[in-house]
Amino acid sequence: MALREIITVPDARLKQVSAPVETVDDVLRALMDDMLETMYAAPGIGLAAVQIGVPQRVIVMDLARAEEDKAPRYFVNPEILWSSEDTAPYEEGCLSVPDIYDEVERPARVKLRYLNYHGELIEEDAEGVFAVCIQHEMDHLEGVLFIDHLSRLKRERAVAKVKKAAKAA
Ligand code: NI
Repeated sequence: MALREIITVPDARLKQVSAPVETVDDVLRALMDDMLETMYAAPGIGLAAVQIGVPQRVIVMDLARAEEDKAPRYFVNPEILWSSEDTAPYEEGCLSVPDIYDEVERPARVKLRYLNYHGELIEEDAEGVFAVCIQHEMDHLEGVLFIDHLSRLKRERAVAKVKKAAKAA
């Protein structure tokens, strides 16, 4: 496994639409292993492959609390089959927009379909933080960031803040 560099705004690569994965093989599993290690090291709870510059439809996630055992999850070619009409606000952040947090309103529940680490087709309902996180990560696959759901002013401020911090680092 290896740590990969997480790209941050305003890097244009984050705007790419990711391509579907053709097969879940050892090469893809090695990518997912690297993504998970990179996410844990950040630390974060979700990461899309495009955030390490690989525009493929792959997401890793771990929503376990600090005191719980690790619970890594892998989503390949995820699709949302259904979204609830009711929405819920959640204070989101993103490893590609470090140190910026703001409230985004999304469908409270979704039904999704994806391939797991072993290439098995899974259908699953998501609610709570899981619903927030999978929708946030799936946005990345379309080149959309959580700040794209905010006002233009807030978005521009966020990008300027990240740029300034990166320059100072
Ligand atoms: Ni993100």
